[in-house]
Amino acid sequence: HQLPTDLFTAIENLKQELNAVVLAHYYQEGDIQDVADYIGDSLGLSQKAANTDADVIVFAGVHFMAETAKILNPNKLVLIPDLDAGCSLAEGCPPEEFSRFKERYPDHLVVSYINCTAEIKAMSDIICTSSNAVKIINQTPEEQPIIFAPDRNLGRYVMKETGRDLVLWEGSCIVHETFSEKAIVQLKTTHPEAEIIAHPECEEPVLRHANYIGSTTRLLKYSQDSSQKEFIVATEPGIIHQMQKATPEKTFIPAPAMNNCACNECPYMRLNTLEKLYLAMKNRSPEVTLPEEIRQAALKPIQKMLAMS
Ligand code: 13P
Ligand code: SF4
Repeated sequence: HQLPTDLFTAIENLKQELNAVVLAHYYQEGDIQDVADYIGDSLGLSQKAANTDADVIVFAGVHFMAETAKILNPNKLVLIPDLDAGCSLAEGCPPEEFSRFKERYPDHLVVSYINCTAEIKAMSDIICTSSNAVKIINQTPEEQPIIFAPDRNLGRYVMKETGRDLVLWEGSCIVHETFSEKAIVQLKTTHPEAEIIAHPECEEPVLRHANYIGSTTRLLKYSQDSSQKEFIVATEPGIIHQMQKATPEKTFIPAPAMNNCACNECPYMRLNTLEKLYLAMKNRSPEVTLPEEIRQAALKPIQKMLAMS
């Protein structure tokens, strides 16, 4: 395959040709963010997917995100640059095991983080994202027992914020769990003015040091609104592309991971490249599909989330 020399123009042309919208998550590489029509956190992206009048949705993110777009738009073509772009949270919560787990708590409401497969969504009562999890739990009756899956770190954070006791599925994000409390504290000694901003998927010892905790969109907004000039960013460093664009005069330092390894980039998100995005649009493949029965069952808790957000 001969690739066009100017991929940006080629992608713009394909957008017109297909009547396509390109949605991208903040953890995508900078080039993909620059070609996207909309960049957002998981909630923003699903709201955008629910309201688009494009015929084709090109989803530059991981599989569960594109799948959510398909659940909301069964008659649209949903393309993803790389079908293997998974997520450790989705993979760490297999449907059969989750079904057995659920059986142990028959009276519990199931609130699932959007980072899960359609099968898990189909077994859930309400979906939430990192930006609305607290708000959604607070809208359930106080005496209602709840299972929260699959991220134990977000679950623990929500428990702390709401004062509720949740039954947690023990899943985690391989990116956010690698941040090192020790390395962050050390970094802070040489950057005493820097504010630590963190995603709630981080482990509790890291969250304890955070000046601000929020979803990717909230972290971006906070970095713009804060009077501070320097930030230690404890989430996937793809977000720094937008932070730097919005406030070029500020400094953003990616939070260090254990042993200072470069493992804070999400290997799943980074499977997507601008070349693969172009090829997906050109070939109208790979396409995200799912069985209609699961789609319908997964749609209900997503709609509930959108109504409660
Ligand atoms: P948000 O963008 O919703 O904060 O999610 C972060 C994440 O890890 C997505 O996979
Ligand atoms: Fe999943 Fe973590 Fe990657 Fe987000 S950053 S897609 S939660 S593995």
